[in-house]
Amino acid sequence: MKPTPTLEEILQQTWRLLIRGANDKKDPLHLATIGTTNQQTAEIRTVVLRKTDAAKRLLYFYTDFRSEKIQQLTTHPTLSWLFYHPKKNIQLRAYGQAVIHHQNDLTKERWQTLPSYGRKTYGTQQAPSTPLPYADDDLPSLWKVPEIDLAKTEYAYANFAVVTCEITRLEWLNLQRSGHRRALFDFVDGVWKGEWLVP
Ligand SMILES: Cc1cc2nc3c(=O)[nH]c(=O)nc-3n(C[C@H](O)[C@H](O)[C@H](O)COP(=O)(O)O)c2cc1C
Repeated sequence: MKPTPTLEEILQQTWRLLIRGANDKKDPLHLATIGTTNQQTAEIRTVVLRKTDAAKRLLYFYTDFRSEKIQQLTTHPTLSWLFYHPKKNIQLRAYGQAVIHHQNDLTKERWQTLPSYGRKTYGTQQAPSTPLPYADDDLPSLWKVPEIDLAKTEYAYANFAVVTCEITRLEWLNLQRSGHRRALFDFVDGVWKGEWLVP
């Protein structure tokens, strides 16, 4: 039976996993489920974890500035993240305050790194969630050629947003036959405080 890691080891492992998840497209933590709230329900959806900055406790994702999640985060900036690593059988939940970046230095820098296929998501003519009378991607014709001229994709920058989230709470759950383990970490007064929970 493997010994249970210490709370300190779990915290370090958690940030290592989140860094790998952001950097490795094939890693199970590359995709996250994020939760926001609106007046009636919890809203959840998949996003790509774009960057993890462990020193600053920041997680990043990209989105369309016109999307509903941006409206929800503007009203309620508290953001929840859910990750699951099937091989390690680890569930991670993270919580923090979201900051929406739009047309600033960060979005400018990130936009420059996006190839045309990466920019496509932000190029729809109407806002995401707008009803359509037929099935379509709502992209203008410039996207429908094999070699897209990158200069022509610049208009979509207006729809590009980066959301950063400063994590102040992390919950780690590891299910094992030998005994489940669950730990909670809160960032209080500049330090992480960890405790064990009933799994
Ligand atoms: C594999 C996958 C990855 C996705 N990645 C993103 C992403 O990084 N950012 C994003 O805004 N939406 C992403 N989506 C789409 C969202 O899940 C969601 O459908 C969309 O953003 C609209 O959400 P909203 O109406 O709640 O704003 C992804 C969907 C899938 C299936």
